[in-house]
Amino acid sequence: MDISKRTFDAVIVGAGGAGLRAAIQLSESGLKTAVLTKVFPTRSHTVAAQGGVAASLGNSEEDHWHWHMYDTVKGSDWLGDQDAIEFMCRKANEVVIELEHYGMPFDRTEAGRIYQRPFGGHMSNFGEKPVRRSCAAADRTGHAMLHALYQRNVRANTQFFVEWMALDLIRDADGDVLGVTALEMETGEIVAFQAKATIFATGGAGRIFHSSTNAFINTGDGLGMAARAGIPLEDMEFSQYHPTGVDAAGVLITEGVRGEGGIQRNSSGERFMERYAPNAKDLASRDVVSRAMVTEINEGRGCGPHKDYVQLDLSHLDPQVIMHRLPGIREISIQFAGADPIREPIPVVPTAHYQMGGIPTNHHGRVVMPRDGDANAPVTGFYAAGECACTSVHGANRLGTNSLLDLLVFGKSSGESASEDVRRMPKAHKPLPQEALERSVERVRRLDAQQGGADVHETRLALQRTMQNHCGVFRFADRLKEGVSRILEVQRDVQRTAIGDKSKVFNTARVEALELDNLIEVAVATLVSAEARKESRGAHVRDDAPDTPEHPNGRDDQNWLRHTLWFRDGNRLEYKPVQLTPLSVDTIELKKRAY
Ligand code: FUM
Repeated sequence: MDISKRTFDAVIVGAGGAGLRAAIQLSESGLKTAVLTKVFPTRSHTVAAQGGVAASLGNSEEDHWHWHMYDTVKGSDWLGDQDAIEFMCRKANEVVIELEHYGMPFDRTEAGRIYQRPFGGHMSNFGEKPVRRSCAAADRTGHAMLHALYQRNVRANTQFFVEWMALDLIRDADGDVLGVTALEMETGEIVAFQAKATIFATGGAGRIFHSSTNAFINTGDGLGMAARAGIPLEDMEFSQYHPTGVDAAGVLITEGVRGEGGIQRNSSGERFMERYAPNAKDLASRDVVSRAMVTEINEGRGCGPHKDYVQLDLSHLDPQVIMHRLPGIREISIQFAGADPIREPIPVVPTAHYQMGGIPTNHHGRVVMPRDGDANAPVTGFYAAGECACTSVHGANRLGTNSLLDLLVFGKSSGESASEDVRRMPKAHKPLPQEALERSVERVRRLDAQQGGADVHETRLALQRTMQNHCGVFRFADRLKEGVSRILEVQRDVQRTAIGDKSKVFNTARVEALELDNLIEVAVATLVSAEARKESRGAHVRDDAPDTPEHPNGRDDQNWLRHTLWFRDGNRLEYKPVQLTPLSVDTIELKKRAY
């Protein structure tokens, strides 16, 4: 199979918020920039982000970036790198105002400023009480953001390759990244995109779980490509369950509902969060709220005929608030739960939502990995931003609205770094190694040649069920162990998947099989890393690591205050220290987490 080649200064994979923000930086600096995307940019998964983007603008009450930083470190259960967290919280106001100037239609206060609402874990004055920090466009913030960013890219002449799926990272013998191979879905042709800078902004991999708030496109493509190219994945054991997915459907109901005053109740109508988080109540951080909900259900206080969900009650709110600030969730609730929240509660359960881990990067968006004694040596030519990256600003648990912030801040910084680096590189591109191109051709060839192998749909279902059953809100030592052996069995099936349709034009069966190659890398990384971490921290809570005076919240800071690095080769794990020293302020010292 012949591979044609296209050459750019920079290639970005993914056209969600992070990819679009990085592209603006590169295109506006005059570099020839390509963006590859499986779907039209404004249909990327950022479109599903509802409640807002965090920034301490202080438009409705006093706020400060240092308070935001404190909340983010605490929310991360101290696994977040404090230099990167300070960088992100300090940059927040700048990137939000920039977005406003790109034309983002934020809601407004009476004084005409950007409207802000409270969100889980965001507090004033170092943990005192909830603060209005989430800048919102009703409950469609991600949708509005994508349109503003896309339009700015059109103005900057970014070149989009829509309905292209990136297949593999191209690395040469020096370990430098020289671009990606990609499949044009319309024709079935494989093309090499040669670039001096390659930025991954491929989003999450929520589809490793059976029930997820994520779009079907969220198959961890960037993580799979990085892992196959020898790049480790960091802190993959930390998967976030959003407290409020619609029961049975999994569709997201924004935390902004609780920010606007919604409360959760159990079967006896009790506002149960008062027992678990007496100060923040329903606005505690997501890991805390999700565990409280599951505990209520497990202890028989769930609602409905099977007592398997809790209720999110908005009926005490002014209907005008629901119709103006939360129109999207009203529609979702009516469509998916048959309940109009103006009058009836929404049935909700914790649902897989976000991965805190990803491709290791520093806060300049450069991908880093251990080399020659340096735990964080940059990989030349490679950058990552947004959910596929682990910067690590979310540590063991992300605060709501910090993901839209992450993708703006690190989309921008990865674009800035790539632009600086490209200008320093020699004028000519390095030659592409033939064997790296052959690997992609071989993956497609195997699929076309495979007879009587494993069914893609069934194998994916087995993967998703394994993750759902063995890697949940609460984790159990024996189930994690069993989960590792099950997922390795699924991995063997993934290596022999077969497709009936061998045609070239818009062959979605082939695309799904190639996506499964990525899902399996993420699933194995998640389970292997989770089984190995013998403590509870943030979203990773194990039955054999309980809350004791020596181990507050079940954390074992002496042995486990460190980042996991999973290498695909042999499922090897390495660890590296957490950066506890911020850029300019004092370290936020470790303590027990309570809300
Ligand atoms: O609840 C939400 O609106 C989701 C926000 C987030 O994941 O940051």
